[in-house]
Amino acid sequence: MFPPDFAWGAATAAYQIEGGWQADGKGPSIWDTFCREKGRVFEDQNGDLACNSYELWEKDLACIQQLGLTHYRLSLSWARLLPDGTSQNVNQRGVQYYNKVIDDLLASDVSPMVTLYHFDLPQALQDQGGWKSPDIAALFDNYAKFCFQTFGDRVKLWITINEPYVCAKLGHEDGIHAPGLKDKGIAPYVVGHNMLRAHAMAWHSYSSTYRAKQKGAVSLAINSDWFEPLDPGCNEDIAAAQRAIAFTLGWFAWPVFVTGDYPEVMKSAIDAQSDKLGYNGTSRLPRFSSDDPTILGTADFFALNYYTSRKVTPRGSCEHTLSMKSDQDTEEVLDPSWPICGVSWLAVVPYGLRKLLKYIKDTLGNPAVYITENGFSQVGPLQMKDVQRCEFYKSTISEVAKAVQEDGVNVRGYFAWSLMDNFEWADGFSVRFGLFHVDFSDAALDRTIYQSGQEYAKMISKNKSGQSKM
Ligand code: BGC
Repeated sequence: MFPPDFAWGAATAAYQIEGGWQADGKGPSIWDTFCREKGRVFEDQNGDLACNSYELWEKDLACIQQLGLTHYRLSLSWARLLPDGTSQNVNQRGVQYYNKVIDDLLASDVSPMVTLYHFDLPQALQDQGGWKSPDIAALFDNYAKFCFQTFGDRVKLWITINEPYVCAKLGHEDGIHAPGLKDKGIAPYVVGHNMLRAHAMAWHSYSSTYRAKQKGAVSLAINSDWFEPLDPGCNEDIAAAQRAIAFTLGWFAWPVFVTGDYPEVMKSAIDAQSDKLGYNGTSRLPRFSSDDPTILGTADFFALNYYTSRKVTPRGSCEHTLSMKSDQDTEEVLDPSWPICGVSWLAVVPYGLRKLLKYIKDTLGNPAVYITENGFSQVGPLQMKDVQRCEFYKSTISEVAKAVQEDGVNVRGYFAWSLMDNFEWADGFSVRFGLFHVDFSDAALDRTIYQSGQEYAKMISKNKSGQSKM
């Protein structure tokens, strides 16, 4: 049993589903650029068309209705609304598209949760330094104000930035996401810092100008695995697990929910490694100054993207290079009993979600939590009767129920990733996370419900009818 107003949702992101990459005046984003560079994405695929939600939105709406969702999480394409990234040049046809999506959702009794930024920076802003430039925070704030002003009469749940960790690490350290930089051990911390500044500015703008009238809530979506010591009796492993969580969840959650600053463990690990490598100059982890917006308290709820868990031990061999990996000094291993679903990184560990929720409650001051992403992927031969994914949703949602009932975590909602199969970033269309299958081989791009979609719909409906009996 979940609370009566529990949000039952599914999530998507603009670049992964919309297509229409040049339609009606949209500007290019860094993913449009990245996908055109040979060898970046599986089979050099791209999101030019993807699920074509830009033209086929009604099909998405039918899927949302078929599932009986109470909430739908989508993201706005910054470059569709503001082609050069600035509010001096507004693309009205982009505004019309999102107005229709939002209005149709509300007319179907589905509440939108809207993400402002899900990995797709306007290329024009990347050309000015992107997230590495401190100027990006004010540009993001202007974009956020434009969105609050334009859509905030109807949108009450906002996510400023999706997974700053992933943007910083995969985009600027590992180079496997746009913009494809490998500026190890330096750029990711600068990017993360600017993302926090951008998020905080937008939150403050909402509070000072829109909150009283629009009465919505704003947060950022923080991704984290659950980390536990490889040997729970070993102090080094315990410390390694603490470092892993500090460098992932803590990197963004500590400044926003706990201290206004990065976790001590993270600061000291980075500075100690700099010393070891004879790196002189200011710390590679930037510090907040009095010129920055106040970061502490800039979230009205905790938005958690959870996929998997890891067992952790120290790396042991000390690497003499600048990198996040050597700063963190952990080796992450998978428990052999955890099944892998589709992609190699995704070990199925539903209990990890419960543990992470309890950790959030205990360390971050018991915030209201929305699980804004959680899902299971398929690779290879397609199974419409996706029995394992059905099991996955059942056991995961039952862990969430335990977190609510037994651990007293204030979970307000659950969003499955994803409504439908879509463009899975560097994996292109080879990895499918949908509750609906999308036939990418056919121009109609039909959506067909998987068995797991049917099971999720049943769970939602059972829960809703249980509530009406309460
Ligand atoms: C992202 C999604 C992505 C999913 C599965 C999350 O990191 O927010 O865009 O598709 O994970 O990889």
